[in-house]
Amino acid sequence: MSIDANDAPAVRLAGVRLDRGTRTILSGLDLEVPRGSVTAVLGPSGCGKSTLLAALTGELVPAAGTVEVLGRPVPRRQRELLELRKSIGVLLQGNGLLTDLTAAENIALPLRTHTRLPRAVIDRLVEMKLHAVGLRAAGDAYPRELSGGMARRVALARAIALDPPLMIYDEPLTGLDPIATGVIINLISELNDRLGLTSIIVTHHVHETLPIADRAVVMANGGVVYSGTPDELRASDDPLVQQFLQGKPDGPIAFDSSPHREAA
Ligand SMILES: Nc1ncnc2c1ncn2[C@@H]1O[C@H](COP(=O)(O)OP(=O)(O)O)[C@@H](O)[C@H]1O
Ligand SMILES: [Mg+2]
Repeated sequence: MSIDANDAPAVRLAGVRLDRGTRTILSGLDLEVPRGSVTAVLGPSGCGKSTLLAALTGELVPAAGTVEVLGRPVPRRQRELLELRKSIGVLLQGNGLLTDLTAAENIALPLRTHTRLPRAVIDRLVEMKLHAVGLRAAGDAYPRELSGGMARRVALARAIALDPPLMIYDEPLTGLDPIATGVIINLISELNDRLGLTSIIVTHHVHETLPIADRAVVMANGGVVYSGTPDELRASDDPLVQQFLQGKPDGPIAFDSSPHREAA
């Protein structure tokens, strides 16, 4: 079975509603992520960005609507879901590196778990992934010996270990200094283009992320409030978009409230 068989968009959501418990977090979501693109999903903290990602990986089953990833509806059955997840590289904010394994061993982990490749081949693949993130010499280092930026690069190398066609980044810049931020954002862009990936970057770091994005999606108030190119976004005179871009606390986006409460 080939997961990535057709040329449908990498991700397509139609009429999607996502609930957590009895609360509706997002509703009326219609969204297409073109293959090969870097899409920035922007929005204030708590607006539901991570919730949206959970629907793409099948962690969260939508209360309504359809979610398609790589041309297929996200499956419910565990076995098919695991198969789909091999096609999605995920980088989470906390990196999720195992502290008692070296960088190389961390990167080897998905290869050991999901393939039957011989040890020597895995070692070679790990070297290549380390090289891809500019850390060829760091394979034997433990996570505690790495700077924040280097640790995130190791996590990135692990996320691409199985050569997934779709990459999902949840707040990849959080906690990084400005130099590491530049390194990571450029790496995300470079890997997308060199490896022919599709990348979705969920972030509140608007100004760092827009320069490498082909598409921008802004979420607020329980849904998508903007979708278009970064240039169109910057030029938008929508007060909601401008409020978000300028980081103003007062305006049509209720920054510190749940999507259900009315904006003051
Ligand atoms: N597992 C959960 N159970 C209940 N509520 C949740 C859960 N995860 C997130 N939420 C709520 O859903 C809303 C959106 O959260 P999240 O998607 O994490 O936002 P973001 O990633 O944009 O900061 C928040 O109000 C949060 O409290
Ligand atoms: Mg989040």
